[in-house]
Amino acid sequence: MNVGLLGIGTVGGAFYKLALEQENINVKTLLSRRERPGLECRVTPDINDIINDPEIDCVVEVLGGLHPAYEYISAALKAGKSVVTANKAVVCEYYDEFLDLAKSSGAAFRCTAAAGGGIPWLESLSRISQLDEIDSIEGILNGTTNFILSAMTNSGADYAESLKEAQRLGYAEADPTADVEGFDAMRKVVISANVAFGVSIPKEDVPCFGISTCSSEDIKAFRDAGKVCKLIGHASKKDGKISACVEPMLFDKGSATAGTEGGYNIITLKAKRVMTQSFTGLGAGGDPTGANVLADCISIANGAKGFYTDKAVRSSVDNSVLKQNYYVRTSAEIPFEITGEMGSGAITGKESVSDMHAFASKVRKDGGSIFIAAIGE
Ligand SMILES: NC(=O)c1ccc[n+]([C@@H]2O[C@H](COP(=O)([O-])OP(=O)(O)OC[C@H]3O[C@@H](n4cnc5c(N)ncnc54)[C@H](OP(=O)(O)O)[C@@H]3O)[C@@H](O)[C@H]2O)c1
Repeated sequence: MNVGLLGIGTVGGAFYKLALEQENINVKTLLSRRERPGLECRVTPDINDIINDPEIDCVVEVLGGLHPAYEYISAALKAGKSVVTANKAVVCEYYDEFLDLAKSSGAAFRCTAAAGGGIPWLESLSRISQLDEIDSIEGILNGTTNFILSAMTNSGADYAESLKEAQRLGYAEADPTADVEGFDAMRKVVISANVAFGVSIPKEDVPCFGISTCSSEDIKAFRDAGKVCKLIGHASKKDGKISACVEPMLFDKGSATAGTEGGYNIITLKAKRVMTQSFTGLGAGGDPTGANVLADCISIANGAKGFYTDKAVRSSVDNSVLKQNYYVRTSAEIPFEITGEMGSGAITGKESVSDMHAFASKVRKDGGSIFIAAIGE
């Protein structure tokens, strides 16, 4: 299968190297805005050299960002070419459109590396969603925040020091907002929930509370209570209603999620027949992610068509149905039932995700301080 590769950075570079070892995958042309001497393929700055080449069967988009990734993916699908991407931002933003284009052109569209990096999570989720009813998905979907929280938990360092260390080691970007405020995990939750439940939920419906206000005192209180804090994306379906959010969550020390550290992700699904299944591995990094992109190409070379699901029923998120106990440390008065305390935080009775996130965003808007963490069961 001839591939047109868009981008040769961390993921594209690893993909290119791994593809050289495959007999059936040939990177014919690379789109690059600068010269790339020493490659065994044609290099062009013009996307039309790929879109208009009838010998190219599959376009691999690893540029990142919304534009021009959106225009290039759309043009490739319209030209009947299959597309593989690792770009969660563009898939989350243009989900319905890409599905429609893939359906009408008959081409394949895959994005396994977009949620879970090196883990074949979306592929597994799609297989199970075809034979079972999935009730929920939940997990650590962002390696940067997991690295920071692991460092805070293991060394007692505060958030700012741990973020700096993550940046020094290349785990966090210079502007870490998308990771630490939960937006990166939110995009992966949206794509995962869409595949799991055969829906299309608006990302604006998914509230995010990140880790930037987590203090070393919070972490100490959790440790004293035998708990470990993780940034979790979760989505569930109950009585036809879908809830979804990203928030810190406390797990018992010794549980699989609590023991998943550093750049590792763990994602768990619960379904009626297969019950509970967890998937773990590196959530980022050139080789793991490039390998997952290559695995999508191999599936397509072996005849895979379409997307993981062709169902994308437009659905809204209703977070009033999911109720949990929360740890809340805030300068504001807590308007919920208090059932206990943990360090300088309060433990609330079961509160809905929608009420708790609405309270948290009001406190922040009013200039108050707040950190919340759901208490996992
Ligand atoms: N890195 C990971 O571990 C990881 C994990 C999972 C998913 N992803 C996703 O994979 C995608 C790629 O990430 P990455 O880390 O590989 O990014 P990266 O290292 O920044 O590489 C991006 C590549 O795309 C090229 N590029 C960007 N805009 C372009 C344009 N307009 N025209 C031509 N070339 C352009 C860059 O070329 P220049 O050298 O000219 O800038 C570079 O070669 C992103 O969507 C990311 O979210 C990454």
